[in-house]
Amino acid sequence: MFNSIFRTKKIEKILADAAAHEEGHSTGLKRVLTLKDLTFFGIAAILGAGSFSSLGGAVFSGGPGVVILFIITAIACAFTAFCYSEFASRIPVAGSAYTYAYASFGELFAWIIGWALIMEYSIGNIYVSYSWSDYFTSFLDRFGQMIHINLHLPEYLSTSYMEAKHAVAEGSLNKSLIIAWNNAPTIGGLKIILDLPALIINFLITYLVFRGIKESRNFSNIMVILKLAVVFLVILVGGYLIFNNRLTANWLPANDAGLRTFLPNGFSGVMAAVSGVFFAYIGFDAVSVLAEESKNPQKDLPKGMILSLVICTVIYILLTLVLTGAVNYRHFDGVGDPLAFIFEPQNLNIGWMQFLVAVCAVVAMTSVLLVFQMGQPRIWMSMSRDGLLPSVFQKIHPKYNTPSFSTIVTGFVVGVPILFTDKTFVLDFTSIATLFAFVLVCGGVLLIPRRAKEAGKFHIPFINGQFIFPVLILGTLALLTFTIKNKMGYSYVAELLNGDFKNYSDDAIMKDKLFFTTDIAKLSTIIFWISALLLSVAAFVKKYSLIPLMGLITCFYLLTGMTTSNWLWFIGWLAIGLVIYFMYGYKKSKLILENN
Ligand code: ALA
Repeated sequence: MFNSIFRTKKIEKILADAAAHEEGHSTGLKRVLTLKDLTFFGIAAILGAGSFSSLGGAVFSGGPGVVILFIITAIACAFTAFCYSEFASRIPVAGSAYTYAYASFGELFAWIIGWALIMEYSIGNIYVSYSWSDYFTSFLDRFGQMIHINLHLPEYLSTSYMEAKHAVAEGSLNKSLIIAWNNAPTIGGLKIILDLPALIINFLITYLVFRGIKESRNFSNIMVILKLAVVFLVILVGGYLIFNNRLTANWLPANDAGLRTFLPNGFSGVMAAVSGVFFAYIGFDAVSVLAEESKNPQKDLPKGMILSLVICTVIYILLTLVLTGAVNYRHFDGVGDPLAFIFEPQNLNIGWMQFLVAVCAVVAMTSVLLVFQMGQPRIWMSMSRDGLLPSVFQKIHPKYNTPSFSTIVTGFVVGVPILFTDKTFVLDFTSIATLFAFVLVCGGVLLIPRRAKEAGKFHIPFINGQFIFPVLILGTLALLTFTIKNKMGYSYVAELLNGDFKNYSDDAIMKDKLFFTTDIAKLSTIIFWISALLLSVAAFVKKYSLIPLMGLITCFYLLTGMTTSNWLWFIGWLAIGLVIYFMYGYKKSKLILENN
């Protein structure tokens, strides 16, 4: 049994199967996407709820210093993008990390990744749908005021049930959540509270994806141009006003002790924002699921992924600086529309920017929804081809050339939980599962055999990690030990590496929900260092390539930022996945059946 569940699928076999599918079906997916389209898809997937919505919470938690987390996360994602690119160049077929895991770790891990990716694609889209709804309802309100018509949607029709319930239970001061709970009609004792705009946008996006890639592509490209334009406008107008209004002191706000610092809540405050910041980066990997629809996948997929990542990283750093320069970070408490918020009357006071940002946020998030809603069916299609899911999941619509059944199922998988979950829950869940997938993709690159260079194909640049990696790890550990031993007082390094937060008051720690305070986080930090040392030994012995090693270790580091409940939910989700695999996929796997 162990042999069969860890049996890998040979890359040649994956390519041959995909080619056979393409030949056998005149209805195979069309190869229409260029480098520009793929880069646009990347940006369409990356730039959305993370920057328009969860950035507010991240800035409140970490202050201007959250920029450091954006840089660390960008580095982790860049290394990972190289690994995705290497795989995408070798295995240019739909399925993304799932297919890559099949080639490197074997079937069981492939299934686990496929299962975890449901979190990234479908559950991630639930968060984006909620954020879309937030901006859409506030846009309706503002528009209504402009034309003097009341377009206000009742709170109980624009709020998730769980959010309202938690708000009341926790004595929240959030007015609209309390109103939603108090004004909701009841049927049989059950309060009718649902996020109608989130449900409707999910329905519309599902329909659009069902209708076909070409229509979706055109729609997506226009939306990307629009959202880039508004983000640059926010940066330009906001940046100009920061200097013009002499607000630069906001970049060094006073902490609780009255000290002016870039990190008012310490590095731990910054790390507490990891879910939100990482969520902002999710999406560059979605490009790889379009392998079967791109004209020149070997060259264009890697380029598209890395280009979109670089563009978005620059945008995030500038946006964070503009936000924290324009308004003191403490004012972002509970702010769900931070880009519009900085232009409100009490802040920079530019009404038309507020309105413009609200409109474009709706557009930005629509494009994220579109990309993820397209990605999910394509992963299921690959899993179905391998026999791990029923064959109906690979059914292609005769007229629209899209994976029709999988697309409809995706619509339900996103739509139904919109009724039962809330934003925080889905944000954490998505981030942990995606980081987990990234770790496996980087690890997978280390396992696949090296290959000779071929002109016109992407190759991950090979830098021998035999000495560099162990030196980096041991050097960092030595630095940590040194800073602790010498009790150098305030040490970001010590804090960063082992959660030495002795310089903070207990109060501050509790308030910021610093992850190092939880047992599981301490445990995960210990596990992190043990793994780093083991990986150093492996790198030394096997002369591993440095880039995937760095991708692995940086993503692993970000995983230590997840809380106990994130881990428990995620482990529960994986357990359900394993039960399904052994009951269905294990028995029906084509790879295993073919080899028996
Ligand atoms: N990165 C995507 C967003 O921020 C998921 O919406």
